[in-house]
Amino acid sequence: MTQSIYILNGPNLNLLGTREPDVYGSTTLDHIEKSCLKFAAEHDLEILFRQSNVEGKLVDWIQEAGQKGDGLILNAGAYTHTSVALLDAIKASHVPTIEVHLSNIFQREEFRHHSFISPVALGVICGFGANGYELALRALLAHLKGS
Ligand code: DQA
Repeated sequence: MTQSIYILNGPNLNLLGTREPDVYGSTTLDHIEKSCLKFAAEHDLEILFRQSNVEGKLVDWIQEAGQKGDGLILNAGAYTHTSVALLDAIKASHVPTIEVHLSNIFQREEFRHHSFISPVALGVICGFGANGYELALRALLAHLKGS
């Protein structure tokens, strides 16, 4: 059966391509979505790719992923470092979650070193730019296959 993966993106990630390209690269979110959809077509996956600047919307989508999805890839942007609500949503949804960041948050300001998501994530991929999304898809697929 085709498995459904939610890929959720938080605040300001809609600006990828023009936002601090020295930090986040020049790839747009649209391009990342297309790459993920291509990967999905090759691996019999359904991808629900979304972005919001609104914390509560991300909470709603994480709950939806828990009800309808098989896995979650989450780049929560700055909410990574602030949001107990996202942590609680992941905990409550029990959906296998991989945390992604384009930048290596540990090479950046101290306030980015703490993540509310990491304690409830299967793992974290950061510092590989846009490629991190495909790396996360591969890791999630392996997890779902039990390997
Ligand atoms: C980010 C890292 C966060 O610290 C930052 O607030 C973002 C993007 C990343 O993908 O590198 O918005 O999640």
